[in-house]
Amino acid sequence: MRDLEAIKGSRIYGRRQGPALSATRQARLDKWLPKLAIATPGPTAVHPGDYFPSAMRDYWLEIGFGKGEHLAAQARVNPDIGMIGCEPFLNGVSGLVDLVDSEELKNIRIFTDDARLLMDSLPEQSLGRAFILFPDPWPKARHHKRRMVCPGNIAVLSRILKDGAELRIATDHMEYCRWIMAHMLENPDFVWISDQPGDWQNRPGDWPRSRYEIKSLAQGRKSSYLRFVRRPRQG
Ligand SMILES: C[S@@+](CC[C@H](N)C(=O)[O-])C[C@H]1O[C@@H](n2cnc3c(N)ncnc32)[C@H](O)[C@@H]1O
Repeated sequence: MRDLEAIKGSRIYGRRQGPALSATRQARLDKWLPKLAIATPGPTAVHPGDYFPSAMRDYWLEIGFGKGEHLAAQARVNPDIGMIGCEPFLNGVSGLVDLVDSEELKNIRIFTDDARLLMDSLPEQSLGRAFILFPDPWPKARHHKRRMVCPGNIAVLSRILKDGAELRIATDHMEYCRWIMAHMLENPDFVWISDQPGDWQNRPGDWPRSRYEIKSLAQGRKSSYLRFVRRPRQG
C-alpha cells in the first residue's frame, strides 16, 4: 500500500465545490449520502462487496465520474454489478445523487474524495472493470505529476483488477492520449485492445457518453476511446 498521508498531501484534482447547491439538491444529498457514501478507508484492505448490502456479480470502479451520467447509465443496464464511483467535486456528486434518486438505482456507492485513497484500500483482483473518462489533462509540464494516468496509479490498477478485466480510458486531448498510450504500454500487465485500425476513435456501443464528452463534441473536438485488458497473472 502507498502512503495514505502522502496521497492526502498531494492533491491532484481541481475544485471541490462550484456554485451553491439549490435547497432541493442539498436535501437530496442529505437524504442519500448517508446511504451511498463510502467512508475514507483506513490502512486495511476492504473488499468492494463490503460496500453493498448483498453480494453482486462483480464490482466496477469509475474514477472522476463528473456528474455521473456514464456511471448511472452503466448501473442501469448492469443491475447485478456493484458500481463504485469516486468524485471529489460536490456539485458532480449531487448530479449523480439526482440520477440515483430519480431512477431509483440500487447498485451505486460513492466515494467523495480522491480516488487514489479508495483504490489503495481495495484488495488484489477485486474489480472486474475500471473507467477513467476524460481525466483532467493538466497540460502544463509542471502539472504532469497531477495526471491520474501515471505509472504509480497504473500499478495500483494492475493490482486491483482481475485477470482479463478491462480498463477504459477516454480523452479528447491528443498529447494526453499519447501520454496514456506510452505509460499503459510500458506496463507489461496491460494489453491494448484494438480490433481494427482506428477503432480507438470510435466509441463502443456499450460505452455511454459522459457530460464532458458531449461538451467536447459540441466544441468540435474528437475523442479517443482506449481499452486495455489486465493480462492473466502467471502461475
Ligand atoms: C474533466 S472532468 C470529467 C468528468 C467525467 N468523467 C466526464 O467525462 O464527464 C474530470 C473529473 O475528474 C475528477 N477528478 C480529478 N482528480 C480526481 C481524483 N484524484 N479522484 C477522483 N476524481 C478526480 C474531477 O473532479 C472531475 O470531475
